Amino acid sequence: MTEDGRDAGHLLQQARAHCLMPLVAHGGAESEPVVYVRGEGCELTDIHGRTYLDMMGSHTRANSLGYGNREIAAAVQQQLATLHYVGTAAHLAPPTIALAATLARLAPGRLDRVMFVSGGSEAVECALKLARQYQQASGRKPKAYKTISRWTAYHGATMGALSVTDWLPVRDVPDARVPGHSFVPNPTGWTNPFGMDEESYAELCATALERQIELEGPELVAAFIGEPIMQAHGVQIPPRRYWQRVREICDRHGVLLIADEVITGFGRTGAWFACEHYGLEPDIMTVAKALTAGYAPMGAVLTRGEIADAIPMFRHVHTFSGHAACAAAANAAIRIKERDGLIPRAKQNGEYLRQALEDALGGQPIVAQVRGIGHWHAVELTADRATKAPFADDTVAAVVRHMRDESGVLACAIGHAFEMAPPLIATQDQLDRAVTAAARAVHAVARARGLG
Ligand SMILES: Cc1ncc(COP(=O)(O)O)c(C=O)c1O
Repeated sequence: MTEDGRDAGHLLQQARAHCLMPLVAHGGAESEPVVYVRGEGCELTDIHGRTYLDMMGSHTRANSLGYGNREIAAAVQQQLATLHYVGTAAHLAPPTIALAATLARLAPGRLDRVMFVSGGSEAVECALKLARQYQQASGRKPKAYKTISRWTAYHGATMGALSVTDWLPVRDVPDARVPGHSFVPNPTGWTNPFGMDEESYAELCATALERQIELEGPELVAAFIGEPIMQAHGVQIPPRRYWQRVREICDRHGVLLIADEVITGFGRTGAWFACEHYGLEPDIMTVAKALTAGYAPMGAVLTRGEIADAIPMFRHVHTFSGHAACAAAANAAIRIKERDGLIPRAKQNGEYLRQALEDALGGQPIVAQVRGIGHWHAVELTADRATKAPFADDTVAAVVRHMRDESGVLACAIGHAFEMAPPLIATQDQLDRAVTAAARAVHAVARARGLG
C-alpha cells in the first residue's frame, strides 16, 4: 500500500500496461516504472515509501525550487480560480503581461520582447521561425533558411528542434531531417576528437563555425544555435573567448545568434542566464524548465524590438501560449528566487560543491574531470586516463545506481559523466551528503570492477 492507501502493486501494473515511457528501452535495466508519490524540499518519496535526496531537481533539471512549494501552489490556485486561461494571439491576462515585463528586465541586453510557449522544444521551434522570418521580412537575407548547430547538442524533440539536435538517443528519428541544418564541433572539457588541449579546441570550434557559414553560403544562413554551456557529457563550459568569437562571426555574416537557455536559465549556473558569464547578448534566447521551477509547463522566446518589429506578422501560434496559471507559477518562482537571494547563493554553493567534489573524488583513478558552475556539476569518468577513453560499458550508470540504491541520492548519467543539478534551495549539508554518496559509489564500483 502507498501512504495514501493505494495498492502499489496495482499502480505499477497499470503503469506497465498503459504508460508509454519515452527513451526507455523495452526490457532494459531501467525499464521498470519509477513512481513517486510525494515531494518536500529536496526530498522525494516513492511508491514503496522510500525517501530520496533529489540532487537533479527532477531528472529533467526543471525543479529549481524543489518540491511542495506552497507559495507557488497558492499563486497557481488563485489564478486558476480567477481566470485560468484566455486563449492565445492578442488575448492576454495580467500575469502573462507581468511575466513578459519581468523577463525583459532580467534578460541580457536588449531582449525585451517575449513570446510564450509550453516548453523547450516549442521555444526552439519558435526561435528558428523567428530567425527565418526576420531575415526574410527585413530584406537582409530574403532566401535564408539554414541553421547551424553543434555536435552533441540537444535542442528538443519536435521536428524542427530535432533537426538542430545531435544527441544520440534521439538523433536517428528525423532522417530525413528538416532541410537546411548542419553541425560544427563544440568546445568540450577533458576530451575531444582531435586530442587537442581545451583552449585550442575551443578556438578550432569557433573557426569551424565561420568556415561552415562560408560553405553553406552566408546569404542562406539565418541562424546559429547553441547552449551557452552545453549539457552533453556533462556541463561543458567553454572559455570566454569562444562566445566572444562566435558573436563576432555571427555579426560579420549577418547570422542571428540563438542562445538556448532551456536548461541553463533561471539560476542553474549561479546567474539568471548562462550568457551572463560570457557577457554575451544573443539575438534570440529560448527558456523553459526552471522558468516555472517545474510547477507548470511553460517556455518562452525572447528577442529585441528591432527583430520583432521587422516582422509584419509573426506566422506561428500555439494554443497555450502565455497560459495565465503557468505565468502565475513563473511569476511566483522568480519572485522567490529574487527575494531569497537564491541566484548569488547558487554561485557561492557552486564553488563549495566543486571543491568538495574535487576533494572527495579527485584522486580516484576512474575520475577524469570534475567541472561545473553554480548548482550544476558533472564528474567525467574514464576507462583509461592515458588515452582518455570513456567507458563503453555501464560503469557511469552503475555509479548513479549505487548512489540511489545505497545512499538514497538521485543523480543522472549523461554520456561519459554523471551529473548533479541540485535545486537552488539545497543546503550545504545536502550537498555534502551528495558528495559523500558520489565518492562511495565511485569507489565501490571501481573496486567491484577491478578498476582501482
Ligand atoms: C537545451 C535544451 N533545449 C531544448 C530542450 C527541449 O525542452 P522540452 O523537453 O521542454 O521540449 C531541452 C530539454 O532538455 C534542453 O535541454
